[in-house]
Amino acid sequence: MYNLLKGKKGIIFGALNAESIAWKVAERAHEEGAEFVLTNAPIAMRMGAINELAEKTGSQIIPADATSMEDITNLVEQSMEILGGKIDFVLHSIGMSVNVRKGKHYTDPKYDFTTKGWDVSAVSFHKVMNVLYNKNAMNEWGSVVALTYMAAQRVFPDYNDMADNKAYLESIARSFGYFFGRDHKVRVNTISQSPTMTTAGSGVKGFDAFLNYAEEMSPLGNASALECADYTISLFSDLTKKVTLQNLFHDGGFSNMGISTKVMENFKTEE
Ligand SMILES: NC(=O)c1ccc[n+]([C@@H]2O[C@H](COP(=O)([O-])OP(=O)(O)OC[C@H]3O[C@@H](n4cnc5c(N)ncnc54)[C@H](O)[C@@H]3O)[C@@H](O)[C@H]2O)c1
Repeated sequence: MYNLLKGKKGIIFGALNAESIAWKVAERAHEEGAEFVLTNAPIAMRMGAINELAEKTGSQIIPADATSMEDITNLVEQSMEILGGKIDFVLHSIGMSVNVRKGKHYTDPKYDFTTKGWDVSAVSFHKVMNVLYNKNAMNEWGSVVALTYMAAQRVFPDYNDMADNKAYLESIARSFGYFFGRDHKVRVNTISQSPTMTTAGSGVKGFDAFLNYAEEMSPLGNASALECADYTISLFSDLTKKVTLQNLFHDGGFSNMGISTKVMENFKTEE
């Protein structure tokens, strides 16, 4: 490894199990010499898998519901105490739609569910940055990254209200990123990742078809969770100091494709 994060301190949200993108980011950050605190919703902690990751990476765990300002404030204060100073990097790897979970169609959601999913998946990013910014908890040239999906720009019918949540999340990255950059020299970006087989991913109806289609459309194939972690590490490192306010596609080229020869094969009517 390259010691890309040597001496850097971070907070990693969203490692649920070994499939989670955040889990891979934590493993890679550890390999690159970072120290960090792991956090997830108290309910996710009960499954216990995160303890294994904490042990493996020598990290402490602080439970926090990312919709609670009280929990986030406690998380940031405790993290600075544990890590002995300000924070250099933060990963927001959180997504959940209650409408998807309860099988509500996009055209007829339950709006309480819509509000809850929006709060968890998008507004939580604003809340996290609110606490970091107002407590002056980030070091200069720090980096904040959130994970997103291309349904924010294009139609993927079964992605449901998560499409709207991701559009909102990406907008927050730009709007908050402006103030964070101007006032604290902190960069804020979103990574728009390929479909990836995780707990959140597989909650989307017809996810395997989705994933296979993207694989066949992308010249480099889908990006894996580990490859996403590698890209995230580069954004936490000092090699990307002037990259900010961006939505960065990490998708093997899918987002710029019209059609691939492989996909065309399925639509040929004559030899
Ligand atoms: N899997 C994919 O296909 C894919 C593609 C593009 C982007 N993403 C995004 O990547 C991120 C990580 O998802 P993943 O695929 O690793 O799945 P995952 O299910 O492993 O991670 C989602 C995490 O969100 C956490 N979470 C839910 N509610 C929370 C709350 N109130 N407070 C704090 N944490 C909460 C969960 O506990 C879980 O750890 C999400 O933002 C997701 O939308 C995933």
